[in-house]
Amino acid sequence: MLPPGPKAPSAFQTIEWIVRPTHFLRQAQAKYGEPFTIRTAWSDAPMVLTSDPEEIKRAYAAPPDVLQGGDAADFLEPFVGRNSLLVLHGDEHLKQRRLVLPPFHGEALRRWSDTISTLAHAHLDTWPTGTPFRALPRMQELTLEIIQRVIFGSQDAELKHALRSALDLTQSTPNLIAMSLVQRDFGPYGRFLKAVERIDELVYARIDQPSETESILDLLKQSGATREELRDQLVTLLAAGHETTATALAWALERLARHPADLTADPQPFIDEVLRTRPVLSITARKTLQPYTLAGHTLPEGVYVAPCIYLANRRGKPIPFGGGTRRCVGAAFATLELREVLRAVSGRFRLRPPRAQGERMRRRSITLAPARGAEIIADPLA
Ligand code: HEM
Repeated sequence: MLPPGPKAPSAFQTIEWIVRPTHFLRQAQAKYGEPFTIRTAWSDAPMVLTSDPEEIKRAYAAPPDVLQGGDAADFLEPFVGRNSLLVLHGDEHLKQRRLVLPPFHGEALRRWSDTISTLAHAHLDTWPTGTPFRALPRMQELTLEIIQRVIFGSQDAELKHALRSALDLTQSTPNLIAMSLVQRDFGPYGRFLKAVERIDELVYARIDQPSETESILDLLKQSGATREELRDQLVTLLAAGHETTATALAWALERLARHPADLTADPQPFIDEVLRTRPVLSITARKTLQPYTLAGHTLPEGVYVAPCIYLANRRGKPIPFGGGTRRCVGAAFATLELREVLRAVSGRFRLRPPRAQGERMRRRSITLAPARGAEIIADPLA
């Protein structure tokens, strides 16, 4: 028996989930208690949500033949490739994860601080002053520049453009629904495939080229991965690593404008609070491969067990990066990037909001983004 949950048809729940995601989650939790079951148009499998710290710990520790990660990202496969960490399961997933992890260790990452800071300052030179602007698109631009630079050791305007086209198509919720439901070779999906083709050409060219500077690509090349594995890992890191961080930065700026603070010395507590109260991803999902007991409910095979980041962060230990063997591989990198960019902003500008009212969380594809794109006004410090 599945735990109780909203009885509305899945199409209706999907709309709620898109238009009022946090309200939908809070309301379902208040009405049905935990765990509760929701249904969306994206998958036939019902999704059982929990924010209970003990249950979340158990779910993240469950072996992959009991709870399988990587299922919810199937629609991304045409873009990120079949060797992507996001779509692999079991031993294959662990093998690729071991290849990708070493360059993302705290220690190995520290040497990127200066590069990130330099790119952040060059970006801040282009900010308008004294007039409102939306920080989210600018942060998308900056985080793509940063991740491209760190991964390839260089920036390629054409690759940046192709990546943005593919990502923009997956970012628009109507397109996403259209693409995942009717995968045809025309319309948005056709345009998406074209963008992916161009990305492949550019990424393979980069893989085949001897690099002049040190980059994550060089380190991955030494791991013995095949050309195709490399391509898939690189595109995965570019895709998973840029929109998420851009959204987190946009929230940080939206918050900073309303709660001014000096972040030049130690921005970490501020970052932790932003990731806790404005989580970029609202849930993590694992599929049951055998019956699984969650808070006294025996769930059948084939449903999602979903530790709910948004609800968990409101009650206990925050889990902005998920957990277990599927925990975000870019967590340390994202944190470093947030630190460097926020320190740069705080050293140069005082931010204020054009409107007093804080921005609501709106679903943008799979992220929870500021509804107005994080509108801020930046006044240069004297
Ligand atoms: C603030 C920024 C970020 C947030 C909030 C975030 C959050 C997450 C979350 C919640 C997951 C799923 C974890 C789970 O299922 O338990 C995830 C997975 C992942 N993230 Fe991040 N992420 C961020 C930045 C990055 C960056 C910068 C990169 C790469 C450079 C990255 C690469 C990945 C990859 C490859 C996975 C899949 C891991 C796997 O399935 O083994 N992320 N991230």
